[in-house]
Order: sequence, then structure tokens, then C-alpha cells
Amino acid sequence: MHINGKEFRTIWFEKDIVRIIDQTKLPHQFIIKDLKTVKDSVEAIKNMEVRGAPLIGATAAYGLVLAIIEKNDQSFLKRASQDLINSRPTAINLKWAVDRMMKKLLGVNSEEVLKIAIHEAKTICDEDIDFCKRIGLNGLKIIEEIAKKKKKTINILTHCNAGWLATIDWGTATSPIYHAHKKGIKVHVWVDETRPRNQGANLTSYELNEEGIPNTIITDNTGGILMQRGEVDLCITGTDRTLSTGDVANKIGTYLKALAAHDNKVPFYVALPSSTIDWNLKNFRDIPIEERDSEELSYIEGLDKNNEIKKVLIYPKKSKAMNLAFDITPAKYVTGLITEKGVCEASREGLKSLFK
Ligand code: MRU
Repeated sequence: MHINGKEFRTIWFEKDIVRIIDQTKLPHQFIIKDLKTVKDSVEAIKNMEVRGAPLIGATAAYGLVLAIIEKNDQSFLKRASQDLINSRPTAINLKWAVDRMMKKLLGVNSEEVLKIAIHEAKTICDEDIDFCKRIGLNGLKIIEEIAKKKKKTINILTHCNAGWLATIDWGTATSPIYHAHKKGIKVHVWVDETRPRNQGANLTSYELNEEGIPNTIITDNTGGILMQRGEVDLCITGTDRTLSTGDVANKIGTYLKALAAHDNKVPFYVALPSSTIDWNLKNFRDIPIEERDSEELSYIEGLDKNNEIKKVLIYPKKSKAMNLAFDITPAKYVTGLITEKGVCEASREGLKSLFK
């Protein structure tokens, strides 16, 4: 996708360095950051310079490449893999990518291991782009169905950023929107601000603007009334981990939006590549929910009138605050899962029909 008319991926490898777009600086500054060590990769994931389930998986894969460049030693590589897995707990893509890399790298002789690691990390990225593109084409059919009945602009609500910035390219939730726009279907996106880190306002709106897609930022509490007024035709979100039961973990606030959609009979779809499916956990209550520093709530950052980035306290100094980063939407509130293999019911049977 584009930034200032120039095509970018969110992560790439160049002369032994991993390059990322620092997402903590968007939308006000566009900064490309270099990751040179596995520690840089762990910090970039923890501090959310890279974020979004598929992208943190890809960053972890390249983190292992950097670990081999630093010290070509199998016990260092094992420690690095643990540090990467532990950097954020909820998105399963992180463990999925590290396990996939380690399967290829464990026991391989030191002359070959780097070449294999670079190839596998690049394959993970290329595959993600292909899967996200297919998610878009599969989700496009849902938008086309709505467009047949409704001749006017289709209003789509999304939460957080499951756009191209959260993947390598295309995005998951935004990919059907980009495909619809390219086909000339008129779409407009309601962008949930997504407190506290404002991924909707800072990233989703930003990337939609760069692609020329009409969008409006709303507070996280606005979706309900818009649905009651018939101003939302469809919700599409991403996910950090979807169980084989169809239960979906995603950015905090997703569950409340799904409840509102259910009450108002608005279709609520979740878009995901198969790397986000956790085939092992049986009960959604066992999904580890990340709790982040409460300063992410009590301080807010933005441009002041002199165009300088400032961070200011917005809560009473003595107040306690709690910052759970994800919630879980039970499968019964999910209309369907949009995957690279097609759209299915959010259930064990639905997923089994696509993934044997
Ligand atoms: O905390 P974040 O910004 O990493 O959370 C991201 C999300 O919740 C996304 O919806 C999810 O990772 C899917 S990204 C395609």
C-alpha cells in the first residue's frame, strides 16, 4: 500500500538490517527504523513500534535472523526464540512464526542456518501478503452482496487497526475494503478511535486516507447509536487469536461492538489469516489477555500548536487506571470468519470445512 504515493511494506530486510515503519510515530511523523539485534526486535514488539498480529509474527521471524547474525549459536537462538515469544502474550502469530522458524533452524549446521532463516522469514512475509490479498477477495463478495441490495454508499465499521500496517501488506479487515474500492464500489469506513493507543485514529484512518478511501473517526462509544440509526451496513474487525471454536480475541472493545451489532442485526465479520488460528486452546477463558502499563491511559500524546509532539497527563494524579489490551467475542456473536481459504461460520465445523 501507499504512503505519500510511494509503495511500502511494513517490514523488509536489507544488508543484514531489518527495517520497519515506527508506528508509535504515526500519523504525525513517518520514520523508518532499523532493527539490528534480536533485542531491538523484542523491544519493537513490546513498545508497539510494530504491532498487529501478523506483523509481530513477521518481526519475530526476522528477529531470529538477527539473532543468527549476532551470534551463530544454537543455545543463543533458543533463548532468543523464548524472548520473542514472551514479548506479547495474546497474538498467537508470534508463537506460530517462531515455532515455524525454529523447526527449520534447530540442528542445522552453522554455515547454512542464516541462509535458511532469511529464506523462511521472507516466505512468512510473502505468504502473509498472499493470504491477506485472498482475504480481501473473499470479503469482497460479502460487500458485493450488500451493494446489490443497497445502491448507496456501503458503511463499514472497523475497530483498532487490522489494516496493512498490522500485516505486511493489504491488511485483514481492510483488505475487502481496498478491493471493493478498487472495483468502484462506494465505501465509507467508520473508524473506531480505539483508546487508549488510538490505533484506529492514528493508523487506520491514516492508511485509508493514503489510499483515498472516505472514512470518519468516531469515539469507541459511537458505533451503537450509528447501528441503531441504520448507518452501519457491516462490521469487519481483525483478530489476535481465534480458537478452533470460533471465539475471537481482538483489541479491547471489539466484544461490545459485536454485542451492539447482534442487537441491531448488523453483520459482524472477523478477518484473519490461518496463522491467527489457535488449534490447541479449547476454552476462550484460557487465552492470555495482555495487561499494559496504565500510563497508556493516563497520558495522551499529540501535536501541539507549534507542531511539536507532546505527552500530557489527562487523569487525576492519584487515580488508579487499568489497561487490558484485548477482549474476547464469543463465536455466537460473529456472523462469519473471512480467511484466505474462504468465508466460514465461526465454529469448529465452519473452520474444519476450510482447514482439513
Ligand atoms: O495491540 P495491537 O495494536 O497489536 O492490536 C492489534 C489488533 O487488535 C488487530 O485487530 C489484530 O492484531 C489483527 S491485525 C490484522
